Amino acid sequence: MTDTVEISVTKTDRSRLKDINLEDIPFGKYFTDHMLEADYENGEWKSVEIKPYQPLLLEPSLAALHYGQAIFEGIKAYRSHNGDAYIFRPIDNFMRFNRSAARMNMPLIPEELFMEGMRQLIALDKDWIPTKKDHSLYIRPVMFAVDTVLGVRPSENYKFLILLSPTGPYYASPMKIMVEEKYTRAAPGGVGFSKNAGNYGGSMLAASLAKQKGYDQVLWTDSAEHKWLQEVGMMNVFFIIDKKAITPSLEDGTILEGVTRASVIQGLKDMNVAVEERKISIDEIVDAYKLGKVSEVFGTGTAAVIAPIRELNYKGMVMDFNVSDYKISEAVKNWLADLREGRIQDKHGWMWKV
Ligand SMILES: Cc1ncc(COP(=O)(O)O)c(C=O)c1O
Repeated sequence: MTDTVEISVTKTDRSRLKDINLEDIPFGKYFTDHMLEADYENGEWKSVEIKPYQPLLLEPSLAALHYGQAIFEGIKAYRSHNGDAYIFRPIDNFMRFNRSAARMNMPLIPEELFMEGMRQLIALDKDWIPTKKDHSLYIRPVMFAVDTVLGVRPSENYKFLILLSPTGPYYASPMKIMVEEKYTRAAPGGVGFSKNAGNYGGSMLAASLAKQKGYDQVLWTDSAEHKWLQEVGMMNVFFIIDKKAITPSLEDGTILEGVTRASVIQGLKDMNVAVEERKISIDEIVDAYKLGKVSEVFGTGTAAVIAPIRELNYKGMVMDFNVSDYKISEAVKNWLADLREGRIQDKHGWMWKV
């Protein structure tokens, strides 16, 4: 592919938008009129197409289904009061997508294809971006291996897609979380920092077992000692202890480097809240809890943005947190919503105009 990506556009002759109430939409259920599709063949990305959203015709021997080379991203776009569309920090997701690709031995996506493809797709389906408060357009880029040979080796051919899904607010009622002591999401040297499909498949059993016990998700711990904290379900985790914000550091490569995590860290710093990114153990949380020093626990991620946690269960010891007293996470949540919905100045340059 040349430097300037050529994108062919075929528009639908029948929009489905009128069948959908954008003020009442669950997460990830509806898809817009168009999608982007590109193919990697003979060492280059080609056939970049925006076309009506439609099924794919794939062979049963598809490599991604058998050997799991599949990665994705999750990004949100918003529509401002004057009708302009903005994407929140898409460059960060683009860079993370390529870090995932590199770890999974998949080809990198050129920035132009990812960004310009996404921009043109959203511009075409702009009317699908909900304008109601807390609503947005969820953007799902995905890449997977499409070789059709049953031999275990990196695929030579790949498909890249971008799907768009209008989405309503993710009303996360405060979560009850089980600290995981048996299963592991990620270990050093593994693929935990990448957003590959297998990480999600591998996490479902632990989450389901926690649900059977009345919990919403698990708090992942390290593989060696089940003591060092990693992430809460599919979100990064923050603790407010003694008025300081503490979140697990990334150096082990076992944590997905969340774009919301980075935004929350910046927001906390802007609000003069001290932030520590470091190793944090469950023992430290238990000790601080016993001294009454843990004032807030919450998860961060693109879907829910900030999800308060009201209970942690560690080996049967229940730690309760008074979510109605959460001040710091509430302030960051409001700040992020104001920024995304254009009510305050975007001084970090995070809103990318379509
Ligand atoms: C495993 C995992 N951790 C953390 C996050 C939060 O990342 P972000 O804030 O970029 O959505 C996500 C969601 O993307 C995730 O899937």
